[in-house]
Amino acid sequence: MEEEDEIAEVDRSIRTYVLRAGRMTDSQRRALEELGPRLCLNVEPGRELDLAAAFGNGGPVVAEIGFGMGQATWRIAADNPATNYLGFEVHTPGVGKLLAELGERGIENVRIVHRDAVEVFERCLPPSSLAGIHVFYPDPWPKKRHHKRRLIRPGLAELLASRLASGGYLYFVTDIEGYASWALEVLGRTAGLRNRYADYAPRQEWRPETKFEARASRDGRGAWELLFEKA
Ligand SMILES: C[S@@+](CC[C@H](N)C(=O)[O-])C[C@H]1O[C@@H](n2cnc3c(N)ncnc32)[C@H](O)[C@@H]1O
Repeated sequence: MEEEDEIAEVDRSIRTYVLRAGRMTDSQRRALEELGPRLCLNVEPGRELDLAAAFGNGGPVVAEIGFGMGQATWRIAADNPATNYLGFEVHTPGVGKLLAELGERGIENVRIVHRDAVEVFERCLPPSSLAGIHVFYPDPWPKKRHHKRRLIRPGLAELLASRLASGGYLYFVTDIEGYASWALEVLGRTAGLRNRYADYAPRQEWRPETKFEARASRDGRGAWELLFEKA
C-alpha cells in the first residue's frame, strides 16, 4: 500500500534536477559563444518547436534528456548520421562540452535545448513528434522523500509517451537498482507503452559507455536497462 502511495502521480512542476554551480573551461565557454547561437535552439514556452526547421530536414528525431557532458550523445549521433538528435541539459558546462565535441568532430545532426526538458516537452514539443527518447543515468533521487523528483514517475511518463510517434521507443538506463524496479513498474503502467522485453532489456550494444557507467562498474554496480515502445 505504501508503495502504491509512493508511486502515485505528482505535480509535473516539481523539478527533476537541482542546478549545480559548475566551473566552465575556456573551450566550453568558447564553444557556447561560437556554436551556441547555431546549435542551441531558441525555445519559448508555449511556442511549438518546428523540428524540421531546427534540423534542416524532416528526418526522425530522437530526444535525450539530461545528456550530462554529452559523451553518449555525440558518439550515437556520429554513428547514425541519418537520425536527428535533440539533447536536453540544464547544466551549462555540459552544454559547452557537447558543443565543443560537435564542433571538433563536425557533427551536424545534433541540436541542444539548454532548458528543463519537462517544460519543453509539455509546452513546445508536438504530440507524436519523436522517434525515440534516451534517458541515460538520470538523477536517481534515492531518498524516499525525493522520489517525487524522479524523471520517470507517473504523470511525466505519460507526458514522455505522448511525444513518441507510433513505434517510437523509450530507452532508460540506470545503475541504481531501486530506480530500475520503480521505472519498470511506472512504465509498465503507462498507457500506450509496451515493454519490448519480459522485464529488463539486455545491454544495447550501440550505446557507448559514459563516465557514470564506467564509475558504476568500477564500484561493482550493474546497469539496468529498459526498452519500451509506443504502441
Ligand atoms: C546523473 S546525470 C547523467 C548524465 C549523462 N546522461 C550520463 O550518463 O553521463 C543526469 C543529468 O540530467 C540533467 N537533468 C535532470 N533533469 C533534467 C531536465 N528536466 N531537463 C534537462 N536536464 C536534466 C542533470 O542536469 C544532469 O546533468
